This record gives sequence, C-alpha cells and structure tokens, in this order.
Amino acid sequence: MSATAVIGLQWGDEAKGKFVDLLAGEHEIVVRYLGGNNAGHTVVADGKTFKLSLLPSGITDPSIASVIATGVVLNPKALFEELGRLEADGGPAAGDVNLKISDRAHVIFPYHMAEEAILEKRRGDEAIGTTMRGIGTCYRDKAGRTHAVRVGELLRPDHLKAKLAEIVEYKNLILTALDPAFEPFDAAAITDEYLGYAKKLKPFVTDTTAYLHKAVDANKKILFEGAQGSLLDVDHGTFPYVTSSNSSGCGIHAGSGVPERYIEKLIGVAKAYTTRVGGGPCVTELNNETGERIRTRGNEFGTVTGRPRRCGWFDAVAVGYAARLGGADTLAVTLLDVLDGFEEVLVCEAYEIDGVVTTDFPADASDLERAKPVYRTLPGWSEDTTACRDWSDLPANARTYVEVIGGLAGRPVGYVSVGPDREQTIVRR
Ligand code: GDP
Ligand code: IMO
Ligand code: MG
Repeated sequence: MSATAVIGLQWGDEAKGKFVDLLAGEHEIVVRYLGGNNAGHTVVADGKTFKLSLLPSGITDPSIASVIATGVVLNPKALFEELGRLEADGGPAAGDVNLKISDRAHVIFPYHMAEEAILEKRRGDEAIGTTMRGIGTCYRDKAGRTHAVRVGELLRPDHLKAKLAEIVEYKNLILTALDPAFEPFDAAAITDEYLGYAKKLKPFVTDTTAYLHKAVDANKKILFEGAQGSLLDVDHGTFPYVTSSNSSGCGIHAGSGVPERYIEKLIGVAKAYTTRVGGGPCVTELNNETGERIRTRGNEFGTVTGRPRRCGWFDAVAVGYAARLGGADTLAVTLLDVLDGFEEVLVCEAYEIDGVVTTDFPADASDLERAKPVYRTLPGWSEDTTACRDWSDLPANARTYVEVIGGLAGRPVGYVSVGPDREQTIVRR
C-alpha cells in the first residue's frame, strides 16, 4: 500500500497540477489515467511555469516515471507539440523524458474534432461547451468498439491502413449527412500522418498495466494524477454537462488497471470558491461584481481554451458529495488567497429545490438548475495570506473559514494553498 491519488472535487482546475508536482518528489511513478488534452495543469516550480495538458505533472523530473495509462485518450500530434513546449519552457527534451504510454490507450483522430464541432454547433444553446479536443467523440468510439483505434494498433501499419480506410469512409458518410459543408477526410493522408507519429511514439509505448502491477508488487511509490473534476464525471457528475470519462475518484481503477485498495491516501483538491468552464448548472455562480472580483483575483481563465471561468462561492453540498464519491481522506483547499480582502465570505451549506431543503446532490441537471443556494455567511479577512507557510500564520477568520468548509464537506483539511508556487503551501500534520 504505497499509492497516493490527487483528484479534483469540483468542475476541474482545482490546482491538481500544483499538488501532483508538490508530491511527485516523494513518489517514483506519476500516472495520468483519464481524459486527454482537455486538461490543463499548471506547475510552478523553481521560477518556471509549465502548462501541462496530456503529460503527467511529474514529467519535469526524469528520475520519476510518467505514465499515460489505458484510460487516457491520446492525440499524438498534441503530445509531440506539448513535448516541444516542455523543452522550450525549460523542461527536459523529448529524448530525455521518462515517459511510458499505454498500448491500450485510445487514439484521437482529426475526424473526432470535426465530429465534435458539428455536434456542439447543432446543439446551439444546449451545447455542452466542450474543449473541442475530440475527447467525447473518441470515448464515444471506444464505447462503440467497432470504429476505435488503440495506441498499439498504430504500430501495425497494414492493419492501421485497412482499419482507417473503413472508419474514415464511415465518418465521412455521417459527417456529410450532419453538415453538408463538411469537407470529407482522406483516409490515406490520415494513415500516413499517423504512421509518422507511430515511429516517434514507439519508444514510449508499453503495457503500462503490467508495468504498474509489477510496481505495486515491488511496493513502489505511485502517485495518481486526476484530470477534470469529480462533478464532470460521466456517471456521477452533472450529466449531460460532463466530460466522457470517470473523472471522480471512481475512475482510478478503470483508467489505470490498479485496484483502488492500493491507494493509501486520496487527496481531494477543492478551490476555496467555485469555478466552472463550459455549460451546465452551477448553483453558487455569481453573475455580479463579486463573481467578477473572484475571476480577476484568481485569474480564472481556462488554461486550455482561454475561456473566462464562471465563478461563485464555495459549494459544500457539491464538494461533500464528490469527497464521499471518491473516498477522499483529506482535502487540499486551494486559492484561499483569492478571497483575501473580502468583507464577508459565503459558503453554500444546502440547496433549496422547489421549497425543499436538501444536502444531497441531485441526479438531474434540471433540478440543479432550479436549486437555490442556502448560504452561511462568515466574516472575511483583510490580511494578505500569500506569505503564510504555517496554519498558525493564517488570519483567525481564514482559519475559521477553512474549518467550516472542511466541516461541511465532511473531511479534514490537510493542506491549504495560498499561491501557485510550491512554497505557498501549508501542510497540516
Ligand atoms: P488543475 O487543472 O487542477 O491542475 O488547475 P489549473 O492549473 O488549471 O488551475 C489552477 C490555477 O491556479 C493555475 O494557474 C495555478 O498556477 C494557480 N494556483 C494554484 N494554486 C494556487 C493558489 O493557492 N493561489 C493562487 N492565487 N493561484 C493558485
Ligand atoms: P483539468 O484537468 C475544467 C469541461 C469542459 C466542458 C466539459 C466537457 O484542467 O481540471 P470535454 O472537452 O472534456 O468533452 O468537455 O468538461 N472540462 C474541464 N473543465 N478543467 C478541466 O480539466 C476540464 N476538462 C474538461 O469545459 O464543460
Ligand atoms: Mg486545469
């Protein structure tokens, strides 16, 4: 039992990347097990900033093995672009990274992006507001089975050529029917492009499941890096305004092949307030000056798409649900400094839906749309918290605030983050 997991308890961007980077040094292997280049994880260390999307947040340190496991959907073009950016930003060169990619991971093709763009456009006001990275359409093909390609198949040229000929013909038929302006894809051109990626991918491709099973047997220290947030989970989130994988703690076993009973500590990361990108209900959203103030102070603009994030007060109903769902042992409360200077701070402790007060998280997005937040109001603090390094350094009102949100979410708060840097972290023992 030597694995740790870091998962997001809200709608993503909780600062998982910061915590994975912070803890990576105590581990031998960092594993990304779901999602793809829809994620944007920011790591700030030693004066350098890395914006990672597909690469695990341990990638900056070649002494740590970085694993892209089975549950990830992989866009090879995006992977190589990201490896280029990593080096340009002061990280290791592509030839020096310690990266292992699952032969079972599914591959994203250009038709996945095209299909997503058409589907989202047709939904108009009801669009999911996806990142347009072909994530949902690739997972859809994975679940549909017959028109999916896995990484291992890229390494078999004749097989790939035949399979893509069939898939591309089928995609062209469907996409032309959905959008007469759609320009059909050329199967041979896609095959050539992907055979080029296959050559470069080959040194990284392996059976990561077998690798991780051996690592578990050898008692190696493994860190699982969640992507997206629990409330974007396809089964347990705010369906259909979710991503297409199990982005709550439930996805670790499915995505990595490592049973959850090996996880010794599961850290649930939650911002001291709420943000959400894209469509779907967000009970505590503030479409006012306070929301704007949080967005500006927290620099709440998407890492991947640059979209302004929707901002609001902390939602303890949602975070408590996510913590129970994933089995979080402890909370990491992040971006607390963003609330410095607010006269009062509000926490949503229940929802009122059609006159009924509940602390259960509803299954139906339309119930959530109607839910009104029941707030507890706490006094704010005027002090700057960004230099606090110890729990006792925090202003008394900030400590009370953190204790209240942990109490309402039903989990102890083990970590508080007061800035993007590794150093700006309070660890409570
Ligand atoms: P992730 O997707 O969960 O890894 O989170 P993102 O990297 O998308 O978003 C978190 C953002 O907040 C990044 O820009 C981080 O550098 C920044 N950040 C992390 N922790 C803190 C903090 O405690 N305070 C502030 N002000 N910013 C933080
Ligand atoms: P990280 O790992 C925030 C959101 C999108 C959209 C929905 C579906 O950085 O926390 P998708 O492209 O996945 O089909 O989009 O999910 N979304 C995220 N929001 N952070 C993320 O990742 C996200 N990944 C997907 O905005 O609402
Ligand atoms: Mg992010």
